[in-house]
Amino acid sequence: MKIYADNAATTKMSPAAVQVMIRCMEEDYGNPSSLYTIGQKAKETLELAREDVAAVINASPREIYFTSGGSEADNQALLTAAQIGKKKGKMHIISSAFEHHAILHTLQRLEKDGFEVTLLDVHEDGLVRPEELEAAIREDTCLVTIMYANNEIGTIQPIAEIGAICRAHQVLFHTDAVQAVGHLPIDVEAENIDMLSASGHKFHGPKGAGFLYVKKGIPVTNLIEGGAQERGKRAGTENVPAIAAMTEALKEAVANLEANTKRQLEIRNRLIEGILEIPHTALNGDAVKRLPGNANFCFEGIEGESLLLLLDDKGISASSGSACTSGSLDPSHVLLAIGRVHDVAHGSLRLSMDAATTDEEVEYLIQSVKEVVEYLRGFSPIWRDLMNGKKEFIL
Ligand SMILES: Cc1ncc(COP(=O)(O)O)c(C=O)c1O
Repeated sequence: MKIYADNAATTKMSPAAVQVMIRCMEEDYGNPSSLYTIGQKAKETLELAREDVAAVINASPREIYFTSGGSEADNQALLTAAQIGKKKGKMHIISSAFEHHAILHTLQRLEKDGFEVTLLDVHEDGLVRPEELEAAIREDTCLVTIMYANNEIGTIQPIAEIGAICRAHQVLFHTDAVQAVGHLPIDVEAENIDMLSASGHKFHGPKGAGFLYVKKGIPVTNLIEGGAQERGKRAGTENVPAIAAMTEALKEAVANLEANTKRQLEIRNRLIEGILEIPHTALNGDAVKRLPGNANFCFEGIEGESLLLLLDDKGISASSGSACTSGSLDPSHVLLAIGRVHDVAHGSLRLSMDAATTDEEVEYLIQSVKEVVEYLRGFSPIWRDLMNGKKEFIL
């Protein structure tokens, strides 16, 4: 059996999105900046995509800037806010300790540039507390950037509350919604979001296409200088096939949101129930306030890497955390942020499921995880020490 259980890392493109991409490459291949018919056809496709994307988050088309993905959108949002802050002499930014590295590394760069960054604590349930955010806001705060849903443990932050606080204090609010767009209903107006990042490959669109929403009136800083594309804020010939395919995937995801969510919740809840039968195992993050497709566990006495390799032998593609940090021996900064100690954080498993997963696959997944954990514990020195009482169980 082959099971893809790593949809938070990336998703398979939907057949409809593939068709749109092929059609664009074969027919709408003109440069949208060209004046002749084929160019204008591509331009029309691009602008229709902008309208469709904007409608999904209740924005206006002029507030959407197409990018190469989530990382670029995150960088552009933060540099935009920093530029505005610098002009006003406001050099303080608030974020959280478990953001994606596209945010954390950009913040580190801004710190070198003289900004002061406050990283809010993430509690054991994987959530930031709005009251702690409010207490951290200062006269010189120019930006709050908090992710919509975490990419490792899937916890959904209280975005509307955070947005309301930022609006009341007149501080810009950006959210990295890469894991949320196409999976949760989002309304930038109702939630007082000033900037939002999204990425096509997380909702069955292609890699290399994403978008940044920036509320009207906020002057955008461009990362790439050159032509006047994207209203002069992102130079370079637009990737029309990928943008059109991303938009198709997004419309499909939103049209099926209710049904997909219902099915993902069934799958997720069964996975949690089945896998927590393994002794000394814990779910990471709140059991309810999490993405419908995300289940993330820590197993005591286990090395995450070996777990993944053995699951791969059984045909299961899963992850121990974010794809961007796998390969590094450091435990996940997200699991450390929610208070997991190093030993336990090393033994983590993220299963991120799409709605097409069958009941049979879910049972196979549970059975496989049980077998592999038991097998690995059989020769784990840490597990032996735990069993001999030389070490204390944490979970
Ligand atoms: C929360 C989050 N932000 C940003 C990114 C980066 O997106 P992209 O791969 O499109 O650059 C990811 C991708 O894993 C993510 O999960």
